Amino acid sequence: MDIGIIGTGNVGGALGRRWAFLGHNVTFGSREPESDRVNELMRRIGAGVSATGIADAARASEIVVIATPWPATEAAVAACGDLSGKIVIDCVNPHKADFSGLEIGTDTSAGEKVAEWASGARVVKAFNATGAGNMREPAYGRTTADMPICGDDEDAKAVVRGLAEEIGFDVIDAGGITSARLLEPMAMLWIHLAYNLEQGVDIAYKLLRR
Ligand SMILES: NC(=O)c1ccc[n+]([C@@H]2O[C@H](COP(=O)([O-])OP(=O)(O)OC[C@H]3O[C@@H](n4cnc5c(N)ncnc54)[C@H](OP(=O)(O)O)[C@@H]3O)[C@@H](O)[C@H]2O)c1
Repeated sequence: MDIGIIGTGNVGGALGRRWAFLGHNVTFGSREPESDRVNELMRRIGAGVSATGIADAARASEIVVIATPWPATEAAVAACGDLSGKIVIDCVNPHKADFSGLEIGTDTSAGEKVAEWASGARVVKAFNATGAGNMREPAYGRTTADMPICGDDEDAKAVVRGLAEEIGFDVIDAGGITSARLLEPMAMLWIHLAYNLEQGVDIAYKLLRR
């Protein structure tokens, strides 16, 4: 698949590396695609990736991943240009800069804001409720970390489920895009445990069933 990833940081880098390794064609959309930092990321990932401007990466891709800081996300989505019909994966957590809580929530979410800004796109919230380290390696011994996803377009959600399963996650379908109101606080709890309570980043959610 042709996957555009907007943002070359922890999440974009982790997902891009995994999907490129699995044979997908990954194009990073960056504000500075020629920078030493982005060149170094391309060199480290190797085959199957390239970097360009945000609009070009979005135009070239059937799937566009938004992996930008919350305060930069509206501008990043706008810089993508026309996203109608594309699958947009929103990884963004609208947390405060000091990790003390979320900027928005309960009656809306970053997922719903991205869906509003990316008019006509098929938005799926995914890859937000765990750390980037778990995207590099979701296995915990013989079990594997869960990845909750949500979105209103069932076909788009099936594609994102496949991409998450290829990486190795167990996927939980959490329903429509308004469930991003639940997935973002879930991420906030993960951040609180990992950083504020110093449990470290090698922690992940698992839903038990019987
Ligand atoms: N870190 C995690 O473990 C984790 C896990 C799940 C979800 N998330 C969420 O995923 C999103 C990305 O997190 P991250 O940790 O990957 O962030 P990051 O390492 O800071 O990278 C964000 C990337 O976004 C791009 N960007 C565009 N506009 C920007 C701006 N105004 N300021 C800074 N960067 C800008 C940058 O790429 P260019 O410089 O190439 O444009 C940057 O590399 C956030 O919303 C975060 O809440 C993070």
